[in-house]
Amino acid sequence: MSRFGRDTEEGVTRLAFSDSDIAAREYLRKRFESLDLIVTVDQIGNLFARRNGRNNKLAVLGIGSHTDSVPNGGKFDGVAGIAVALEVLRILNERKYESNQPIELVVLAAEEGSRFPIFLGSKVMTGLMSLEDAYRFEDANGTSVKEAVTKTLGSEHAESARKPVGYFTAWIEPHVEQGSVLEQHGCNLGIVTKIVGIQQLHVAFGGGSGHAGTPMNLRRDPMVAAATLIAELPRIASRVSSHLVVTVGALKVTPGASNVIPRIAEFVMDFRDFELDGMERFRRVMNQRASEIAENLNVSYSIREISKSSPTPMDETLIDLIEDTANSLALRTMRIVSRAGHDTQNISRIARCGMIFAPSKGGISHAPSEFTDWRQLTDVTDVLLHVVQNLSIGGQLGFS
Ligand code: HGY
Ligand code: MN
Ligand code: MN
Repeated sequence: MSRFGRDTEEGVTRLAFSDSDIAAREYLRKRFESLDLIVTVDQIGNLFARRNGRNNKLAVLGIGSHTDSVPNGGKFDGVAGIAVALEVLRILNERKYESNQPIELVVLAAEEGSRFPIFLGSKVMTGLMSLEDAYRFEDANGTSVKEAVTKTLGSEHAESARKPVGYFTAWIEPHVEQGSVLEQHGCNLGIVTKIVGIQQLHVAFGGGSGHAGTPMNLRRDPMVAAATLIAELPRIASRVSSHLVVTVGALKVTPGASNVIPRIAEFVMDFRDFELDGMERFRRVMNQRASEIAENLNVSYSIREISKSSPTPMDETLIDLIEDTANSLALRTMRIVSRAGHDTQNISRIARCGMIFAPSKGGISHAPSEFTDWRQLTDVTDVLLHVVQNLSIGGQLGFS
């Protein structure tokens, strides 16, 4: 899969609905069809590979993840989960296993917020965002989601993107940890108990563009305002919450010349916590500081929410089932929180959800050196296979 979007620094740049993402999806479609899975797509570009069961009127058992990456990202984020889910279906076919209800491998569209706002496919699927609102977003080049999805789907018939509560009897996303906790504890895999809440805000400071020779006391410099606020974020975070993390990954300056005092300095701030009130406290204190900085430097400022997802607990019955299954396979496991956001936190609005993590070498992710050993993915595959078999015969959880 890393052939699709391999970039010059040995990383992967496979942005949502880019040519490389489209090629990756086409490759997967062929793999799905080779397993006699029924492939459909919905209006926001989520891809479904269905394996029918005895009774196809029953709610679907869903497994899957995403194919898109961040710029210069790693080879495992998203696609490792797709590979694990695909291998589970291949083994079920090989064993001629007949499940009670249908099983669907879902390739969720536009999970990363690198080209369009984060979690687009799962937000539309679960009603967090209307298709119309999603279609309106544009990337940095002015291409709309609607144009990007239309290009991706071509003339393919697209099903309605909205899935009702009860569509899935359960949803499980296998994923790499993107942290170093499992490695530090010598564990084979992790059972996710809670996924972090994420807020992304667009912050812009505006001043009077001017000549680099302007005396310091006559300036209204938005770059100094942005730099002052960004430099204070770690201190604000540590003051308001012990778990809150905050990142500014990109800064855009207009007009952007070395001898011109900028007119605008803008950036997206990503902050995360496991407690909603921690996030609200941070946002309040940060807002206050932005206003004070803007006033001191006589510049304007604006803050606009781009996306927001709440800290989300996973389903207790699924946590227990995954843990019991891993223990029965004599794997060293631990319960773990996810510091990365996932589509699964949105899908938890319509279904019981669980996540299974494989360790990440050195805890590195969203970088070319992201790595997980294939034998660690095999452990996750074994656990997911047994969990799927358990769930699909109306197992101990009494799922239909
Ligand atoms: O940002 C995240 O946590 C995820 O990788 N989209
Ligand atoms: Mn990611
Ligand atoms: Mn991911």
